[in-house]
Amino acid sequence: MGRRALRKLNPTLDLSPYYAEIEDLTDECTISDFFTQQQPLEIEVGSGKGLFMQTASVDHPERNFLGIEIARKYAKHCASRLARQEQANAFMLQGDALGFISKHIANNIVAAIHVYFPDPWWKARHRKRRVMNESFVTDIIRCLIPNGILHFWTDVKEYFDVTLELLEGFPELSGPNAVEEKTAEHDLDYRTHFERRMRKNDIPVYRSQFILS
Ligand SMILES: C[S@@+](CC[C@H](N)C(=O)[O-])C[C@H]1O[C@@H](n2cnc3c(N)ncnc32)[C@H](O)[C@@H]1O
Repeated sequence: MGRRALRKLNPTLDLSPYYAEIEDLTDECTISDFFTQQQPLEIEVGSGKGLFMQTASVDHPERNFLGIEIARKYAKHCASRLARQEQANAFMLQGDALGFISKHIANNIVAAIHVYFPDPWWKARHRKRRVMNESFVTDIIRCLIPNGILHFWTDVKEYFDVTLELLEGFPELSGPNAVEEKTAEHDLDYRTHFERRMRKNDIPVYRSQFILS
């Protein structure tokens, strides 16, 4: 299943309040630089086309959402959705989420981390590129506040099983808690574009949620 081409960006849209590139950030940059209001922070790793960032930030104006997407054209596409709706509680960063979180996110400040349909890296020799790895889970535990939540969903059963096995080694994270499939009430009523795509093609989705004790 290929990805459909992205719509052209509107050149008159000012992305700067909603978008930055990690390589341009200074060492001193902090999360408060991205948001006008200080409120609980949620981070999405690999935002793709940005459906989660768009809907979650509208549904929860009392929270800040930071999306991190490595592919520049997708990161800008997400930022353009946020710019169109003038979403002050959401911000997109382009670059490697794992490196950014490790370097710039302080201990115990994140209310939730969302990892939806991460690239599966099918070939055995590429598995080390998967985002759900031991070092990232260690960082997740460091960054989450008590009762902070990790959401991990995928359509790849093998990735799901291996990740749940990995997470068993971290007793600080309690779970997996069951996450029910929600009936879609309109065409964009899905957590992410990948969830939408899988469900429209009758492909099973494996969902898990863990809570930091
Ligand atoms: C399969 S797509 C899923 C996108 C979205 N989460 C969804 O469910 O529709 C995975 C996304 O993660 C991004 N990605 C992969 N590795 C990343 C990393 N280290 N940091 C940030 N984004 C990453 C990819 O560019 C891609 O857009």
